[in-house]
Amino acid sequence: MPGRSVSGHQVCRDCRQYQTRLTSRAAYPTMEPDNNMTDTAKSVPAGELTLRTLAMPADANPAGDIFGGWVMAQMDLASGIRAAERAHGRVVTAAVKEMAFELPVKIGDTLNIYTQIAKVGRTSITLTVEAWAQRARHRALEKVTAGTFIMVALDEDGKPKPVPGE
Ligand SMILES: CC(C)(COP(=O)(O)OP(=O)(O)OC[C@H]1O[C@@H](n2cnc3c(N)ncnc32)[C@H](O)[C@@H]1OP(=O)(O)O)[C@@H](O)C(=O)NCCC(=O)NCCS
Repeated sequence: MPGRSVSGHQVCRDCRQYQTRLTSRAAYPTMEPDNNMTDTAKSVPAGELTLRTLAMPADANPAGDIFGGWVMAQMDLASGIRAAERAHGRVVTAAVKEMAFELPVKIGDTLNIYTQIAKVGRTSITLTVEAWAQRARHRALEKVTAGTFIMVALDEDGKPKPVPGE
């Protein structure tokens, strides 16, 4: 579905709210996992913290679980932010590889999205993207899901254009 332009990249229409853009993990040292976490949560997020946002009641079903589509939308937004920076311009989501949700996100959790540029093609940028939940009133981060997002750089006419060198 064509979307609107946000910060130089195109996103789906439902990818729009509560996002806060960050550029460095170093600015958020308290987001590191602590020592009281499950085996899953003991691993460390990979990549750069690109987006943090709060899971709100409007994003949940009646049981209080956040919709998977909302989590994916935040990952899409983060991919767009990171890829647009690398492409020095507008990008669009071309493909999302298989994703599995390991843990639920609940109302009040802070969702932290980490992105890593895995590959730069001619016009495409492939990112590995991880979503980690910081539970309400807890410091610990738990990995919720991860996926591979393929973004394509676009020219003024919406056609793929080469990704410039760094
Ligand atoms: C993504 C899009 C620009 C690709 O256009 P296209 O004419 O098919 O372009 P190309 O075939 O030249 O592919 C461009 C690049 O995307 C990659 N690509 C395209 N589709 C892909 C897919 N399904 N999986 C992986 N990579 C893909 C190609 O490999 C190519 O990468 P490279 O240049 O680094 O080798 C076009 O399909 C489009 O506009 N789709 C809609 C996107 C959109 O609206 N997203 C938001 C949905 S809410």
